[in-house]
Amino acid sequence: MTLKNPKVTVVGAGNVGATCAQRLIEKNVSDVVLVDIIEGIPQGKALDLMEARPVELHDRKITGSNDYAATKDSDVVVITAGIARKPGMSRDDLLKTNAQIVGGVTNEVVKYSPNSIIIVVSNPLDVMTHLSWVKSKFPPERVFGMAGVLDSARMRFFIAEALNVSCEDVQAMVLGGHGDQMVPMPRFSTVSGIPITELLSPQKINEINERTKNGGIEIVNYLKTGSAYYAPASSAATMVEAIIQDRKRVFPVCAHLSGEYGLKDVFVGVPVKLGQKGIEKIIELKLASEELEALHKSADAVKQNVAKLSELALV
Ligand code: APR
Repeated sequence: MTLKNPKVTVVGAGNVGATCAQRLIEKNVSDVVLVDIIEGIPQGKALDLMEARPVELHDRKITGSNDYAATKDSDVVVITAGIARKPGMSRDDLLKTNAQIVGGVTNEVVKYSPNSIIIVVSNPLDVMTHLSWVKSKFPPERVFGMAGVLDSARMRFFIAEALNVSCEDVQAMVLGGHGDQMVPMPRFSTVSGIPITELLSPQKINEINERTKNGGIEIVNYLKTGSAYYAPASSAATMVEAIIQDRKRVFPVCAHLSGEYGLKDVFVGVPVKLGQKGIEKIIELKLASEELEALHKSADAVKQNVAKLSELALV
């Protein structure tokens, strides 16, 4: 059942945050509070979006603030605060700066919305999600990261393009961390139920896998001054919608594992069921040995970065 008067906070009124807020109100998902550290930015963008309301024709309200008191009793909080990548930077280069930002933001969020569900978008994603979970002291089903929806959307687009078919009929699965070691899963990627391994050559599938893994950097290299935001914003908004409307949608999500896939105490992308309680189930696929090995390798890379957080005394 959809929540009665859902309230969503988006922290970070930059490219990803403001676009996510726009998607949420224009898709009529919820009212939104947009928060940023820079004075005037969230207020100005919120007013601009409200002035689009008579043209876009929706009844959702968006307000901008620099004060977390405005976020009180949010049902869902999306954290996009932080710096974005520039050419030559890996997601991991953002670690220290964004850890300080995401840690501080989480403390404020928890103070005002102790029952909320937190979706982390800031990079390096898996590490920031881990940090936010530790800081929040929330149960793991209420803190998770947005990566797999984006990575699989990119893969879906590349498959649809290669076969010249509608994106609507294409499903894809990407597991693992949101970094160079992510694990696209052709065996679990289909066009109307037909595995892509039946439709595309191994060489084309390999090309699609590689382009998916490098999907973020491809955009960074075009933009030069920042990273992707339209598809990340759409992906985060879709997760919010699944929660607010209790849709029980199945997505790859950066989730806390406690034994699933033979992994413990690590956040990586796996398929989950998303509903009003957050992660309502982690779906454990039967992986082939090389697939499982790739997932473990990806999880190891995440663990190494989480260890850096401890070394820097940030967690
Ligand atoms: N509290 C609130 N907002 C903050 C804070 C803070 N402590 N620190 C920075 N911000 C805000 C910035 O003022 C800026 O408006 O976060 C916003 C980030 O916006 P952009 O620079 O446009 O970055 P964006 O492209 O939105 O990416 C944000 O999402 O996808 C990830 O890698 C990306 O980590 C990055 C994050």
